[in-house]
Amino acid sequence: MRPHDCTELTASRFARHRAGIQRGGNARSRRAARQGVSIRFRHVAQPGGRTGRVEDERSRRQRLGAGGDEERARTIERRVRAEEPAAPSRLRGKRAGRRPAEGAVGSGPAHHPAGIDRCAHQHPPRRSPHGGKVGAGQVHFERRQLARKPVQSRHLCPSGHGGGTAGGQGNPGEEERASHHPQVVHDLRRRALLLGIGCREMRLSIATKVFLGFAAVLVMSGAVSLFGIVQMHRIGQGLSLVSSGYFPLTRIAGSLEAFQKERERSTDRLLAEADPAQRASLIALDRTYFARIADERLARAREQIQTAREGASARDRAALERIDARLQLLSARIAEEDQAASMLAQLLAREGRVAAEDLPGAQELIARLKTSERRVDHEIRTLLNVIQEQMNGGLSEAERQERTARWAIIGLSLLALGVGLLVTWLSNRALAPIARLTEAAQRLGRGAPDAVAVPEGGGDELAVLAREFNAMAQRLAARERELRAQGEALVRSERLAAIGRIAAQITHEIRNPLSSISLNAEELGERLREKPPEGGDAAAALCDAIVREVDRLAAVTEEYLRYARVPKPQVVRADLNETVRDLLDFVRPELVAAGVRLDQHLDAHLPEVAADVAQIRQLLLNLVRNAREAMPGGGALVVGTRAADGAALVEVRDTGPGIEPARLARIFDPFFTTKERGTGLGLALAQEIAQEHAGELTCASIPGQGTTFTLRLPGVPDERARSRTPVAAIAHS
Ligand SMILES: Nc1ncnc2c1ncn2[C@@H]1O[C@H](COP(=O)(O)OP(=O)(O)O)[C@@H](O)[C@H]1O
Ligand SMILES: [Mg+2]
Repeated sequence: MRPHDCTELTASRFARHRAGIQRGGNARSRRAARQGVSIRFRHVAQPGGRTGRVEDERSRRQRLGAGGDEERARTIERRVRAEEPAAPSRLRGKRAGRRPAEGAVGSGPAHHPAGIDRCAHQHPPRRSPHGGKVGAGQVHFERRQLARKPVQSRHLCPSGHGGGTAGGQGNPGEEERASHHPQVVHDLRRRALLLGIGCREMRLSIATKVFLGFAAVLVMSGAVSLFGIVQMHRIGQGLSLVSSGYFPLTRIAGSLEAFQKERERSTDRLLAEADPAQRASLIALDRTYFARIADERLARAREQIQTAREGASARDRAALERIDARLQLLSARIAEEDQAASMLAQLLAREGRVAAEDLPGAQELIARLKTSERRVDHEIRTLLNVIQEQMNGGLSEAERQERTARWAIIGLSLLALGVGLLVTWLSNRALAPIARLTEAAQRLGRGAPDAVAVPEGGGDELAVLAREFNAMAQRLAARERELRAQGEALVRSERLAAIGRIAAQITHEIRNPLSSISLNAEELGERLREKPPEGGDAAAALCDAIVREVDRLAAVTEEYLRYARVPKPQVVRADLNETVRDLLDFVRPELVAAGVRLDQHLDAHLPEVAADVAQIRQLLLNLVRNAREAMPGGGALVVGTRAADGAALVEVRDTGPGIEPARLARIFDPFFTTKERGTGLGLALAQEIAQEHAGELTCASIPGQGTTFTLRLPGVPDERARSRTPVAAIAHS
């Protein structure tokens, strides 16, 4: 199984599926921790941003203890199988407290030994194209220590990186919310909005808007109706004065006029009458009938005025006063006429048969009577004119009022219609989001959660609904992406499981033959040198070449097997400065030979760490060798240590070509290599070791400028605190 340029081989692929498994393993891990079961985990970098698989102590001992090739083959197979999300039973008894960090490349943020998630990344995370958290060319690899209080630590995590993954656990949405404060605040606000309680954004609810619109239309219609009723009432009042006031007065005045004519004719007949008996009856008629009729009519007229005056407007009352005055004048004139008539009648009655023209003084009385009659006549006509005038005025006033009311009602009705249309338009506008939401919901139903965002403007319930809808669509989209990734991962893992089995078998098959070939070729070379036949030197050189190549193949096989069975670190209290110094002394000659200048900066105040020195040395050797290989034409290599937040850091920085971001996300994958003769296992192994030490290995690289690998190991408390710490049992190195 030879890796080639940029070839990602078997295990690197199955290692990517660990995220989903890891998520599923959290609850079981906590349960195992409670039961006091000693559980161990192994993590592998994932472009998908999740930590690797876990393995319990027993299986590990089995793997390490057996040592046989068959056992190794089984180990590889087990590893592959353990990656399959579809085999949860294999995940029972995983290490407590290790949960994947959402989107982190490599292992998730580690739990702090004190039980508090050390989940604060030093750099703001951003997503890599692979879904991993890659900050400014950095890939983070962390390993969590065994969490003593996994549950508490989960809740104490301030940024939520250690709190599980979105969608990967039992209730991912809640966990994510609980660990993201702004999100929580946002949710609370949203809920408050839904409840309609004191939120600035909640201006007017839809129900209020509809009610206000309805009320506006109602008020407008009511105003129109009220105005109409008032106008009608006023017109009615005017007309009733005409019909029950002026009109009866006209009739009374008319009848008075008719009686007056009759009286005048009666007077003429009286004056022309020569028969004294006839004259006497005419006089009696005149004195009784006409006088009584006139009095009665005048009284009715006054009564009528009195009635009409009640409830009449001031103007109408003034008019009625005028008519009343006219009536009094008329009454006086009638009285004058009565008097003149009475005097003439007395004279005629006294003189008996004498004709009126012949009676002395009669002419004067007749003239006086005629004058009175004309005056009464004139007065009646004046009264009629006045009443007629008032009647006409009342009617034209009613007409004018009717016209005004008509136009006012038309205008107000149009205004009410306008208000109604405006309210309808506003209601439509307020309810327009419903149509958009419906359409978006249909699109969502058709399965396109990425393209269903609806505008969230406004402060009413629909805006809240739109925000909720968008949030839901986003969660759905995220879940869908996750499911898709998991589905792909499952397919890959099945394929890789088969490849892993074959790889283990091949390793098993070629390892022993390789060593035989190497020994035999060496033997052959030696014999050729001892008794060289013709051309023996060339044959011996060929044997040497065979030995070299076979040794290389054996080394590759060994590296593969080393990766397949990283032993449990035998930790002791160690000084990383010492380890680095030893290592650099060891590699200095080869660096000098490669033209690489070496600088070392060791921090005198570096905290001690709990480490398997041999493994850490192996890790650093891999980093240094990679750096050397990245600078074939020479360059500078800076190796330094420093303390940070109680942890010990080792940095290995080179001036090589750097790593493209796309590759950066994959360099920790097993079997990922860009080298002709690389195995792609150096960094995978290094990361494995870092994680086994509860540390992290990260890489930052700027293409064209160089690469920096940083190993972070948690420091252990100093001597005085040793007795109180869990690492008290660590021996001195
Ligand atoms: N210091 C570095 N500078 C540039 N690229 C590097 C460096 N270290 C590692 N890489 C890249 O990471 C890949 C994986 O490295 P590694 O796992 O050690 O496997 P190998 O060295 O066998 O290729 C390398 O092939 C190389 O492309
Ligand atoms: Mg390497």
